[in-house]
Amino acid sequence: MSIHAEHKRITISNLREMKTKGEKIVCMTAYDASFAALLENAGVELLLIGDSLGMVIKGFDTTVPVSVDDVIYHSSCVVRGSRRALVVADMPFLTYSSPELALSNAARLMREGGVQMVKLESCATQIEVVRRLSEEGVPVCAHLGLRPQSIHRLGGYKVQGTNESSARLMLDDAVTLQQAGALMLLLECVPARLAAEITVNVDIPVIGIGAGVDCDGQILVLQDVLGITAGKVPRFARNFMEDGKTIQEAVNAYVDAVKKRDYPDLEHTF
Ligand code: KIV
Repeated sequence: MSIHAEHKRITISNLREMKTKGEKIVCMTAYDASFAALLENAGVELLLIGDSLGMVIKGFDTTVPVSVDDVIYHSSCVVRGSRRALVVADMPFLTYSSPELALSNAARLMREGGVQMVKLESCATQIEVVRRLSEEGVPVCAHLGLRPQSIHRLGGYKVQGTNESSARLMLDDAVTLQQAGALMLLLECVPARLAAEITVNVDIPVIGIGAGVDCDGQILVLQDVLGITAGKVPRFARNFMEDGKTIQEAVNAYVDAVKKRDYPDLEHTF
């Protein structure tokens, strides 16, 4: 039990309860202590140290060059700045390609970074990795749909699951990953109808980004919410800094919009 009883963190069980009650889960990426505190004050329930840090913090074109040390550094900053949110970290490209490698890198993210869950861009081929991490007590979020670490294989940031066979495969993968022990799912750039079907077919919370309004929760990259995205703005992003808001007001507006199902609307949906 924590000696800081007043600072009890949100747990995966709390998020599951929210799914059951139909209360939307609000998530955002964070990379430092100041923003972690500000996002949490606005009511963000889950903070992700995404490997998007490679692009939005380090200025690379893709997430591929991100290292475990990068994620540990930013995770420890976010954990120090937050008290209440569930903190999740991405496992970078090729740091979880076998169960043994995944275990040693996940252990570092949890011990040195202080996070409570790790996220893996996974499909059925990573089932053994998800199973082993789960059996050893590592909480896992599986990331399906567009998997940016595979960008050089995919040839572009495209919507996934758009035909019947790929949609069926994604639904099957979601169920298999849950059976292997995944405690949460993230769906990126998935048609809204497919995301809704996956959400009702698994018991674990499903968080969407570019996956329609029917997921159990939503996540956006901090820079997209603040309208400071460098280069092409993803279709699913909304700039909450419009109308001369302060940063705190913009994040409050994002939280409010997700809770009320005002975001994402049709304009931000595939
Ligand atoms: O790396 C990241 O920030 C992510 C989000 C896009 C969900 O995975």
